[in-house]
Amino acid sequence: MSNLLSVRDLYKSFLEGEKEISILRGLDLDLNHGERLAVVGESGVGKSTLLHLIGTLDRPTKGEILYLDKVIPMDDETALSHFRNREIGFVFQFHYLLPDFSAVENVMVPALIQRMDLARARSEAERLLEMVGLKDRMSHRPGKLSGGEQQRVAVARSVILEPKLILADEPTGSLDLRIGEEVQDLLFRLNEEKGIALVVATHNRDFAKKIGRQVELREGRLFPV
Ligand SMILES: Nc1ncnc2c1ncn2[C@@H]1O[C@H](COP(=O)(O)OP(=O)(O)O)[C@@H](O)[C@H]1O
Ligand SMILES: [Mg+2]
Repeated sequence: MSNLLSVRDLYKSFLEGEKEISILRGLDLDLNHGERLAVVGESGVGKSTLLHLIGTLDRPTKGEILYLDKVIPMDDETALSHFRNREIGFVFQFHYLLPDFSAVENVMVPALIQRMDLARARSEAERLLEMVGLKDRMSHRPGKLSGGEQQRVAVARSVILEPKLILADEPTGSLDLRIGEEVQDLLFRLNEEKGIALVVATHNRDFAKKIGRQVELREGRLFPV
C-alpha cells in the first residue's frame, strides 16, 4: 500500500529583519496509514514549523508534501482548506476552544463549517464527547472545564470529520502528568480504534517512547532515534 504522507526535500526559512534563518533543510519523511510517529528535538529546532507545513497552515520555501501519493497543491486555497478540514485533525498545546460556546458546540464547529446538518453534527459531537469521557460536561463552556477536560474536548473536535491523520503539537505540554497521560491514552485509542495516524511533536520522553517510532529533528532534518 502507498504512504499516507510523504515529505520530500522540504525547506523552510524565515526572515528575521535582513537575515534569513533556515529552519528545515532538505527534510524527508514517510508515514504509513495508521502509523504513529513522535518528533522530538530541542526547543526551537523547528518541530512546530514542520507540523504547520504538513498541516498546510504555512507554506514551504521549497519541497513537496504528498498525501496519498498526490502532491498537495500549495497554491490552490480551496483544495488546501478542504484538505486541512477533511483529512487532518489538529491538537495544539493550547486548545483554542471558543470560550463562548459549550463543549458540544465547540466539537461541532468543524462539521458545521463543512455544512454537516445540525442535528447530525450534534449527535456526532455528543458521541465523541461520550467517548472521551465527557458525557456529563456537554453543555459546559471551556472556562468551566479543567485543563485536561478542555484538551479532551479539543481532541474530540479534531476527529469529528474522521481525519486520517492527527497532528499534535506538544499536546500534553501544558498538562500535569496524570492528566497528560489521559490525553496520551485518548490519542492512542483513536489510533487503535479508528486507525488514525498520529504525528506528535513532544519533548516528553516517556510519551515519545510509548508512541513507538521516534525521529529527532536536528539541523533541519529528521534522524531515527
Ligand atoms: N513565523 C515565524 N517567523 C520567524 N521565525 C519563526 C517563525 N516561526 C518559527 N520561527 C523560528 O523558527 C525556529 C523554530 O521554531 P519552532 O518550529 O516553533 O520550534 P520548536 O517547535 O521545535 O520549538 C525558532 O527559532 C523560531 O523562532
Ligand atoms: Mg513547538
